[in-house]
Amino acid sequence: MMLLKDVLRQWAERLRAVGSEEPQTEARLIACHLLGLEPGLLATRLGMAVEPDLAARGEMILAGRAERRPLAYLLGETWFYGLRFRCDERALVPRPETELLVDAALEWLQGRDEGTVADIGTGTGCLACTLAANNPSAWIIATDLSWEALSLARENAEALGVADRVRFLQGDLMEPLFAADLTGSVEALVANLPYVAESEYLAGQPELWHEPRAALVPGPTGLEALENLVFRLPELPRARFVALEIGATQAEAITNILCEVLPSWQVCTRRDYAGLDRIVVATRPEPEVECP
Ligand SMILES: C[S@@+](CC[C@H](N)C(=O)[O-])C[C@H]1O[C@@H](n2cnc3c(N)ncnc32)[C@H](O)[C@@H]1O
Repeated sequence: MMLLKDVLRQWAERLRAVGSEEPQTEARLIACHLLGLEPGLLATRLGMAVEPDLAARGEMILAGRAERRPLAYLLGETWFYGLRFRCDERALVPRPETELLVDAALEWLQGRDEGTVADIGTGTGCLACTLAANNPSAWIIATDLSWEALSLARENAEALGVADRVRFLQGDLMEPLFAADLTGSVEALVANLPYVAESEYLAGQPELWHEPRAALVPGPTGLEALENLVFRLPELPRARFVALEIGATQAEAITNILCEVLPSWQVCTRRDYAGLDRIVVATRPEPEVECP
């Protein structure tokens, strides 16, 4: 029997050979999944002998990666903001840069007694559930066009114990908020909508083609969904905070529209770990409180 550290090295080499961009991380995630460990605890097991059964299950996952199927789908789970999310073909695999949206929203929610946050295009429910899990007084309305994504998001909310504070609604962008007469309740809005241009999608990694196309591509330019959402933001009378994930070349276009439709708001961008502008945050200044 081989030791885990040697199996990990072998898996990483094979993952690199089939085109994985993060072979070592993926090898470790496979091992954690098969051993039922949280990432981070693996270091304590590197010297253990690997049972043939576990090695065989690892082989099956490697075969799926050779077909360029996303690892999260092969494992049926992924990690986001330290939480485990069920993950399958019903929704996009949550990406690490989307954690920046959570940071921005949690900072804004801090110190508020209660807050109602809309998560538009919830997918796996990673933003909605993470915000609810990290702020016990937050109420979330999560929408998606896809019924399949919503069913997965609901499962995640149940599994994470936040289903009582997340309401799921189906429909186009903010339409479900209007239909349920909820526009007057929303104080904050987060959205990671599709923003990949058709040409970028066709030139992208093969893993993308296993994910729902509608979760990635909104139209030819990639800006369609974001623009449609931003133009309707003034219809949220109580909103004071908006955070949007954007593509690496979209900061100027989205910032300009935000400044146009929300003229009294402050708009800024935040960078991802690679130094690219990937989040636009808009906040409405608090009204000045008059002295009694
Ligand atoms: C990029 S994925 C993000 C999912 C999730 N928020 C995340 O960060 O992993 C975009 C999501 O928006 C949904 N979507 C696409 N167009 C939409 C629209 N017009 N209205 C509502 N949801 C939409 C897709 O079904 C998909 O679940």
